[in-house]
Order: sequence, then C-alpha cells, then structure tokens
Amino acid sequence: ILAGKLSWDKEKPKILIASTVVPESVLELLKSKCELILIKKESKNHILSKVQGVHGIFWATKTHLDEEIIDAAGLNLTTVCTMSAGYDHIDTKTLKLKGIKFANTPGVLNAAVADTAVLLALAASRRLHEGREDIESGNWKTGLQPRLGVDISGSTVGIIGLGEIGQAIAKRLVPFEVSQFLYTGHTEKPEAKSLKAKLVNLETLNKEADFIFISCPLNNETKGMINKDFFGKVKKAAVLVNIARGDIVEQQDLIEALKSGKIFAAGLDVMTPEPLPSDSELLKLSNVVLTPHIGSATKKTREQMAELTAHNMLRGLGGENMITPVNL
Ligand code: DGY
Repeated sequence: ILAGKLSWDKEKPKILIASTVVPESVLELLKSKCELILIKKESKNHILSKVQGVHGIFWATKTHLDEEIIDAAGLNLTTVCTMSAGYDHIDTKTLKLKGIKFANTPGVLNAAVADTAVLLALAASRRLHEGREDIESGNWKTGLQPRLGVDISGSTVGIIGLGEIGQAIAKRLVPFEVSQFLYTGHTEKPEAKSLKAKLVNLETLNKEADFIFISCPLNNETKGMINKDFFGKVKKAAVLVNIARGDIVEQQDLIEALKSGKIFAAGLDVMTPEPLPSDSELLKLSNVVLTPHIGSATKKTREQMAELTAHNMLRGLGGENMITPVNL
C-alpha cells in the first residue's frame, strides 16, 4: 500500500538484499516488483561479489557499507535503504557525493530499544549478573542479601540525547517514581516539558545523574564522549546504560571505572567491537550486564523495520518520496 505507483515498466530493477534474515513476507513484496540478489553470508567479500549492477541496496547487516561496495555497485545504483535507525556504518559521504538516495528506519524501533534500556538499568542496578554468579557458584548467602543494589525510585535520571528513543526511555521510567530527568542536547526539546525534563550540559548531567542513559547517535561529536574525564566526575553509585553505540564510550576507561568502583555498574547492549571477543575484560566484570545488541530484536519490531525498508526502497526506485529519508 505504502509503496505507491512505480514508474518502471520494462526491466525489473535489481536489489541486493544484504542480509540473511529479512522476513519472507518482505522478500515476497519486493520480489513482486524487483529482481532480488540474495546473499549467503554477510561478509564484505561476498557482498562485493554480488553487488555489481544493482539499482538498490537493502542493507540489513552490521558490515560497513563503504565506498568500495558503493563503487562496485556501479552507475545503476540510485537507492540505499538501511534496516536500522543508526547509520554510522554507512558511508553517507559517498552516497551524498554520488547523489544516491538514502533512508533509515527511525520510529518503529523506539519501544523495543527503550524496553531494552529499562531492562539493562534494572538488571545492572539490582546486580542481576552477580546474583546469578552467586547462585551458580554456591555462594548464595542465607540471611539478609549482602549484595545491595541502587534504587531507580527517587533517582536523578540523565539522558544523553532526548530523541525519540530517549523520550521513550523517560516515559517508561515515569512510573518508577524518578525524582527528576536531566537531558543533554543542542536545543531544548518541546517534548521535554511533559516529562519535566531539564536541559543541562554534559558536565552537570555527569555530576548529578544516578542513572545515565546513552541514547544519542554516534558521530564525530559523540565518539569517545564518555571517557576518563567523565568517569572522574561521575557519582560512585551511578549506573550507566548504553543502548546507542559502543564507540560513544571509551571502553577501556569504562572498564577501569567499573573495576576501581568509580561507577557502580553498567548495562550495555552495545560495545566495541561487535561481536565482543569472548576473552574481553568486560566479560570478567561482575558489575556489568551485557546483551548482544538486541535493542530492536523483537519479532514485531524487526518485521516493521524490514517493511519500512522495503517501502522506502520501492519508493526510492520508483522516483517517489521515501517515507523516512535521511537528508544527506
Ligand atoms: C539501530 O537500528 O540502529 C539499532 O542499533 C539496531 O539494533
């Protein structure tokens, strides 16, 4: 329905489906209008061997879509759609230079990602990982539980980036009786009013927040923004949650802060690199709860993301306005 009228009629345009997990229903929708080039594995070399001559690229992999792949596609390429909200893994500079249309999938994943943020905040603040370790190792002390957590109720919650996902996190936390919301950003958000959230600079959030949620995009400005300096000023009982991108945090600095007790705990859905090597120091820390970048990984959300990507693709190829274009 959303795809609208397509303007091609002679030859079906070719789309590279750069993913092995696009739902069948979405592939069927695309197949009715286009020729699909499917991949068997999400490796760059394999993608390079398949991309030549395509008109559209449906990108649903964490592999970087770089200049080499865009160049390898050739002059037919007019439309690239990523099945993700974040697009730090896409060479948008090259897309812009070549005048290639680009779209992402904001909105449809807000709820799932915000749920994951709350999950991690609760799990990290209530020491879920250590509790499990105690049970497994037979170290479950009888009597009053000595491993005490920290409360969300009455806390100051700091949200780094009050975009749609940041707002969804805040809304979910209201019933937890948070004392106040602080947020950082370039400008005041109109939506902050109903949450009684106060715009502050990073330094103030750093010093005052008991729970810190990272929900901003990764870019040159935010890369490494949460670092040694930040951990030097953070509250000792603070809990850090990252559902955005691993590279916003200097991971080694976070590890030192967690080890030395400069910060109470962390809940991370994103880390560096991904996948995290199984010998990473992060995995040896008891005060960290980790999930393998599952923020948007629910059946419904992924289906909606795939559908939105497909409709953007069909519109882009058909010369119509895409639903969620990114202005490059
Ligand atoms: C996104 O869409 O950017 C998410 O990180 C994917 O899970």
